[in-house]
Amino acid sequence: MHTDRLDIVRPDDWHLHLRDGEAMASVVGHTARRFARAIVMPNLKPPVTTVAQALAYRDRILAAVPAGMTFEPLMTLYLTRQTTPQEIVAAKASGLVHAVKFYPQGATTNSAAGVSDLATVYPVLEAMEQADLPLLVHGEVTDPAVDVFDREKTFIDRHMVPLRERFPGLRVVFEHITTADAVQFVQSATANIAATITVHHLLLNRNALFDGGVRPHHYCAPVLKREQHRQALLRAATGGDPRFFLGTDSAPHPREAKLADCGCAGIFTAHAAIELYAEAFDEAGKLENLEGFASFHGPDFYRLPRNTERLVLERKAWTVPDTVPLGDSVCVPMRASGSVAWSIAS
Ligand code: DOR
Ligand code: ZN
Repeated sequence: MHTDRLDIVRPDDWHLHLRDGEAMASVVGHTARRFARAIVMPNLKPPVTTVAQALAYRDRILAAVPAGMTFEPLMTLYLTRQTTPQEIVAAKASGLVHAVKFYPQGATTNSAAGVSDLATVYPVLEAMEQADLPLLVHGEVTDPAVDVFDREKTFIDRHMVPLRERFPGLRVVFEHITTADAVQFVQSATANIAATITVHHLLLNRNALFDGGVRPHHYCAPVLKREQHRQALLRAATGGDPRFFLGTDSAPHPREAKLADCGCAGIFTAHAAIELYAEAFDEAGKLENLEGFASFHGPDFYRLPRNTERLVLERKAWTVPDTVPLGDSVCVPMRASGSVAWSIAS
């Protein structure tokens, strides 16, 4: 479909990093301007591991939402070796904690408290299956013997397949999938599995890491993959399948933390997220399927009501600033100093 105007139900972001304190206060408005709700990642320092911490974090986010905007943070817990089945019951009962995030220990930013072997937390996963609380999976092995570009595929074989067999009733979101293998895994599963897809993995392949020189602002986890994988993600996201939905993984880092000897993983996209997704759907010729991906499939999977407000996008180019404020520093956003083809009209 070709159109210059898209009037859709207001979307949600089902995977977002907001950080905390001043940094959080400087980025939350970018998301609230576009999305009604977001699943907020718990990888703070220290991580959000209890319901009490999640509710306090939620209050801090709500207090930082700019005046005149409405935004509902959907909270998550960080799964550790200390997480108890009782905490899962309390999470479900809170009505405000919507999922538990599994980070393989050492896989990405602030994942040191993660779990190295899912088998060690089976009692917690059982409690989640019973409480019907979704598990959000960062699906990469950390085994240094596995090539960094193969870590998602190896995770499927080593961990996803056994997890599905052992807990068929557990709802699982395979987060920020990056490969044709992950698309195929989700499509071939019988039930209770979905995946989020970021806009940077829809728009960029791994050449973007080495475009005339090393490009630290395109470094994220899981790392960008080959063009054939980007094409598979684009087909999955734009094809209307309800198991795929929007999750930006927008991950702000101060510029100096990206431009370091050991630079952080993360791409900041919250400043232009839905506009960039519109570019990706336009590339696929599937703008008519953006609303399902951005506004329907996520709430349906999480068993939350769909939004009722609307958001209008128009084909009107604008220039992204070279930086956005981030606490006492700045963050370099995706497309910095470049042009985005779509704008928010209302
Ligand atoms: O690129 C990433 N950045 N991937 C993650 O999994 C974490 C995130 C972050 O927190 O910066
Ligand atoms: Zn993330």
